[in-house]
Amino acid sequence: MEQSKARITAIGSYVPDKRMTNFDLEKLVDTNDEWIMQRTGIRERRISEPDQYTSDLCVSAAQDLMRRYDKSLYDVDLILVATTTPDFIFPSVAAIVQDKLGISSSVGVIDLSAACSGFVYALHVAQGMVASGLHRKVLVFGADTMSKITDYTDRTTCILFGDGAGVVLVESETEETSFLAYHQGTDGIGGAHVYLNGIADKLNGVELSNTGNIVQNGREVFRWAVRNVPEGVKAILEKSSFTTNDVDWFIPHSANLRIIEPICERTGIPLERTLYSLENFGNTSAATIPLSLDLGIREGKLNDGDRILIYGFGAGLTHAGLLLNWNLHPQVQLPEAK
Ligand SMILES: CC(C)(COP(=O)(O)OP(=O)(O)OC[C@H]1O[C@@H](n2cnc3c(N)ncnc32)[C@H](O)[C@@H]1OP(=O)(O)O)[C@@H](O)C(=O)NCCC(=O)NCCS
Repeated sequence: MEQSKARITAIGSYVPDKRMTNFDLEKLVDTNDEWIMQRTGIRERRISEPDQYTSDLCVSAAQDLMRRYDKSLYDVDLILVATTTPDFIFPSVAAIVQDKLGISSSVGVIDLSAACSGFVYALHVAQGMVASGLHRKVLVFGADTMSKITDYTDRTTCILFGDGAGVVLVESETEETSFLAYHQGTDGIGGAHVYLNGIADKLNGVELSNTGNIVQNGREVFRWAVRNVPEGVKAILEKSSFTTNDVDWFIPHSANLRIIEPICERTGIPLERTLYSLENFGNTSAATIPLSLDLGIREGKLNDGDRILIYGFGAGLTHAGLLLNWNLHPQVQLPEAK
């Protein structure tokens, strides 16, 4: 029997309609467009409606995928949702998505919590499931509604985050794999540098009036990422037979342009061969990488046959990257212009 190979066959994405510009933030906190652009490269973000949750964003992203890849998702046998802003702690977002999309009740559903590294982790799990023959057709979401855990009185964090969702379909086939090499790392000692306050504090007996918000030491996260991501990129390339020159597109997590620039410098991949989604969407956590992939397609930059290196990093502290051979199913249509 031929061994299964895991291939990314289709993609979809979604961002909410509501925009929050730097000028809107000037009205909320003591900041200004110039400072935000210079320190982050972020111009605006999309914000979900009060009754619009991560599962809603996932469903819209999957509907976008279905418009472009005219195949039924009914027989998907595993749904993975990378998110740290689930609608509820339980039931999982993946279970809600199964219901809303009308996918067969024989599907498995898992939420996966690895913050901004989550989409890469979920893709890695999907690859393992499909290549091992345990699953045949896996939907992998990276989705977050960061605005719901953002403190809009904290100028050091509220300027960064936005909401969005992306999804890819990983299918079993015999001809070619999309997955060329993987690398991961964790520094749990840095957990306090970026975390969600509230639940853990309650477990530790600390009463906080301002709970359920993201708290971070931006400088520490910055330093850690600039040190660890280039090393991770090097490790992935060493595990494959490729060099930086063979990478058509580098897609680091869209945390901040001022983190991406030194990462590019240290890896030797020029910024011109880098895709990011932060300028118009901000840091959408687990969604930044699939949003950047889809933006690259929509802008006519990313094409089938390209070799791409995606690299997520964030809370944990965790980081993970994949070298991918980008070859969607030939039946996939180009997206309509937005
Ligand atoms: C948050 C971040 C943009 C701050 O940039 P920075 O250059 O490190 O800025 P600092 O925190 O050193 O602050 C510099 C000054 O700007 C001020 N400042 C902070 N936020 C500001 C804002 N939104 N507008 C205006 N001034 C601001 C600070 O109070 C400080 O003033 P001071 O010098 O008078 O004390 C940056 O650290 C960062 O992006 N870190 C990574 C965070 C991240 O990506 N987290 C998600 C992980 S996935």
